Amino acid sequence: MAMGVMLVAVVVVAGLLLHAATVAEAQTLRVGYYDQTCNRAESIVFEEVQKAWNADRSMPAALLRLHFHDCFVNGCDGSVLLESGDNQAEKNAPPNQSLRGFEVIDRAKARIEAVCKETVSCADILAYAARDSVRVATGGYEYKVPGGRPDGTVSRASMANSDLPPHKQRNVELLAQYFYRKGLSMDDVVVLSGAHTLGVTRCGTFDYRLMSDQDKGMNATFRNELRRQCGYDANRVVSLDAGSPYGFDTSYYANVLANRTVLESDAALNSPRTVARVRELRAAAPSAFFGSFAVAMGRMGAIRGANPGKVRANCRRVRT
Ligand code: HEM
Ligand SMILES: *[C@@H]1O[C@H](CO)[C@@H](O)[C@H](O)[C@H]1NC(C)=O
Ligand SMILES: *[C@@H]1O[C@H](CO)[C@@H](O)[C@H](O)[C@H]1NC(C)=O
Ligand SMILES: *[C@@H]1O[C@H](CO)[C@@H](O)[C@H](O)[C@H]1NC(C)=O
Repeated sequence: MAMGVMLVAVVVVAGLLLHAATVAEAQTLRVGYYDQTCNRAESIVFEEVQKAWNADRSMPAALLRLHFHDCFVNGCDGSVLLESGDNQAEKNAPPNQSLRGFEVIDRAKARIEAVCKETVSCADILAYAARDSVRVATGGYEYKVPGGRPDGTVSRASMANSDLPPHKQRNVELLAQYFYRKGLSMDDVVVLSGAHTLGVTRCGTFDYRLMSDQDKGMNATFRNELRRQCGYDANRVVSLDAGSPYGFDTSYYANVLANRTVLESDAALNSPRTVARVRELRAAAPSAFFGSFAVAMGRMGAIRGANPGKVRANCRRVRT
């Protein structure tokens, strides 16, 4: 009798282990994931990112941001690329604030599909494209990115609204809550925010900071420069890192220390909890920042999707 119960227990445990192993296997990320199944995948993505960069210096910023939005909303599962179906998709949520670069992903995907059908996930293409964006914008800094992220089946605007960190937030502890919920750390907040060394923001996003001189966390000369650039037009854009908008470098951290950041969430890093790390990143050789960034991107890029599905043939549509 006791033996019978034990046997049943063993079978159940073995069953659970087997199941756990399958799930884990389906989600284990690995460098060179497509070496056997589609060995051109990573080089095609790089070629398309390089072409995009040659045509438009602002593209790496857009691609880097796509991967961030993808990973923070429901895990890195390519859901940011899906078009709205029955419900509003992530890309239609207000925090999308001008996501760009979808055509670059489409072009890479089309070329990859032509050589390996339904093999390389859109989520992985986004992760590789983000890495290659850093590569072109740094002038050659490379790092390995594992593959194996399943494409997801769900994309909801409501999740983008609740999971993406708000930019109207000066309190770095509250900002960090959004990262903690994803298993990331305060150091990741500081390091990943360094992505704002690239790209632009629309005046309508931050012009509430220009209305008066009350915001003491913004240098007055800088505020006047922004007022001039925006000229009361919410649709104009300004650089997040005015000094070097297309170069991936440590000047973002200099901006933080000098109160020359456009977004309040960037100004938040100039606070007691984080300022030492900001100074360190600013003072060190750029390669030290790149190294930290690559590690933090690896952590962000490993956030698991909650609704794994089939590799899509078209990144904008779920394959059923
Ligand atoms: C603290 C969390 C963050 C907040 C609150 C935030 C917020 C924003 C906002 C409001 C914009 C401008 C949107 C607009 O006005 O059109 C922006 C742009 C951008 N963000 Fe972030 N962001 C955060 C973290 C990140 C991370 C982790 C990355 C990437 C690793 C990233 C990459 C970018 C890039 C590259 C742009 C410029 C996009 C372009 O030029 O099209 N951001 N972000
Ligand atoms: C972003 O959201 C707005 C609505 O807030 C929508 O009009 C716009 O089309 C969306 N952008 C993209 C790229 O889907
Ligand atoms: C930046 O702003 C803070 C107030 O938020 C102020 O205490 C600090 O002195 C300013 N730093 C510089 C370099 O202007
Ligand atoms: C603001 O920046 C300018 C340089 O653009 C500098 O001369 C000035 O001292 C700064 N103001 C403050 C309060 O730090």
